[in-house]
Amino acid sequence: MDYKALVAQVLDPAVDEMSQTDILSKIEIPKDSSKGDFAFPTFTLAKSRHQAPNQIAAAIVDAIDQSQFETVEAAGPYVNFFLDKAQAGQNFLRDVLLNENYGHNTDGEAGHVTIDMSSPNIAKPMSMGHLRSTVIGNSLAEISRANGYQPIKINHLGDWGTQFGKLISAYKRWGSEAEVKADPINTLVKYYVKFHEEAEKDPALNDEGRAWFKKLEDGDEEATHLWKWFRDESLKEFMDIYDELDIEFDSFNGESFYNDKMDEVVDMLEDKGLLEESQGAQVVNLDDEDLNVAMIKRTDGATLYMTRDLAAAIFRKRNYNFVKSLYVVGGEQREHFQQMKAVLKKMGFDWADEIEHVSFGLITVDGKKLSTRSGRIILLKDVLDDSVELAQEQIEEKNPDLPNKEEVAHEVGVGAVVFHDLMNERTKSFDFKLEDVVRFEGDTGPYVQYTNARAQSILRKAGNPELVMDELTITDDAVWEVEKLLAEFPNTLKRAWREYEPSVIAKYALSLARAFNKYYANSVILKDDAELNARLALVKSVSQVLTESLRLLGVKAPKEM
Ligand code: ARG
Repeated sequence: MDYKALVAQVLDPAVDEMSQTDILSKIEIPKDSSKGDFAFPTFTLAKSRHQAPNQIAAAIVDAIDQSQFETVEAAGPYVNFFLDKAQAGQNFLRDVLLNENYGHNTDGEAGHVTIDMSSPNIAKPMSMGHLRSTVIGNSLAEISRANGYQPIKINHLGDWGTQFGKLISAYKRWGSEAEVKADPINTLVKYYVKFHEEAEKDPALNDEGRAWFKKLEDGDEEATHLWKWFRDESLKEFMDIYDELDIEFDSFNGESFYNDKMDEVVDMLEDKGLLEESQGAQVVNLDDEDLNVAMIKRTDGATLYMTRDLAAAIFRKRNYNFVKSLYVVGGEQREHFQQMKAVLKKMGFDWADEIEHVSFGLITVDGKKLSTRSGRIILLKDVLDDSVELAQEQIEEKNPDLPNKEEVAHEVGVGAVVFHDLMNERTKSFDFKLEDVVRFEGDTGPYVQYTNARAQSILRKAGNPELVMDELTITDDAVWEVEKLLAEFPNTLKRAWREYEPSVIAKYALSLARAFNKYYANSVILKDDAELNARLALVKSVSQVLTESLRLLGVKAPKEM
């Protein structure tokens, strides 16, 4: 039952000057329940009616059919609607419990959405920034599915580019096979850092690196062999982290995949007269878009990040025929994606409008930005391991007899990091302190998990009875806030997708957990009276929606912890 729509329907005959859709868009949900469950502001009507908003509100209250509400009252310029709590509350619970996929909709009409996500760079550790891309992308994939789309998760590995020339050059100068084998990524990073230090002193090194990359692009055997080896070793380490997060991809087509697809792009640009020469390089001028030129080919003929992204965008349209194409990449690449879209538009691809750069802010650790080049790197694996360890300590303290402690500690520790990442509005930068993230209280993932486990434990204690659906009235007013939040879930999922914002769901889950705990602290649930069945239905609904919220975020929901 969509009560907001009901409010709009009831208002419609009394508000001639607005369409029902416009009315719907104006209806508010007051933060404070004493101001009604829904409120309609009359300010915009004052002009056409030549009346004060207060008068208009009073007139509307008199004019409408109030039979389906407990009360409707004018409060200053607002018309406030109060639902019949007993009636609406039980409808809300029924909606949840009778629908396995409660909250989902079919708006997406099964359209394909490609999601460019994670995309770490070979021969470098996966950073906290790549973690953000991974978990935001993964969550958006699930959110898109809940909104009726079909996501395609693409890991656009950074496995091509000048840096591999530098790495090969560094390896040839200072590398040892045994050293790389013993500790691949760390060793490769060490070579890379050394290369940059040495190149400061001797800039000729950069030319050597560029030359190696050119060889690689031309298929030179030695260069290709080393590149492949670096790539394989790196991927193994990345896979460990994806396993830990339990995240899978539909494609690992990284930058190198487009090696044989770029000529076509360059030809198309040429045919359309879009290529210009600038200081020996081939570029697309984007002055009319107020953007810097997009570099397509370097002086030595080597292609660039941009060239590969153009080829990838076209490939994705052809291969997946997407209705939306998302790029979950840090905000520092904003201009790159603006340029990419602008070039595609100039090429005549109208579908470029469906490309969305889903950007996000930086994660700092103790206020410092992370960068590989300076050698200051946070290893994601260490962060996750530390988090699991912290979770383990707390479980040991709170619930030492828990049967599958290790597994739960893993779900809580990893979930804590993921939840924290997603709880922040994605464009905001934030500082990361592990102790704050793994707490069982406060705005954390473990708090939501713990609340769900508590709900599950109540159901277990009651013997997991078969619930009766025809009598779900709870007279205790304290449940109303919980029931109302349950009813908000479908709109929450829509909003999360509209804004490409998993934090909408994380914040929702926190509110629901808080509301439920407040109710739980002040009431006895397992009391054998006429409303026991209804209260258990409430507990079960809360657990169902919390579990689904966590799932949409890529966080596990242990039944006991
Ligand atoms: N590998 C890049 C980086 O770490 C991110 C790639 C993003 N995706 C893309 N299609 N450009 O910065």
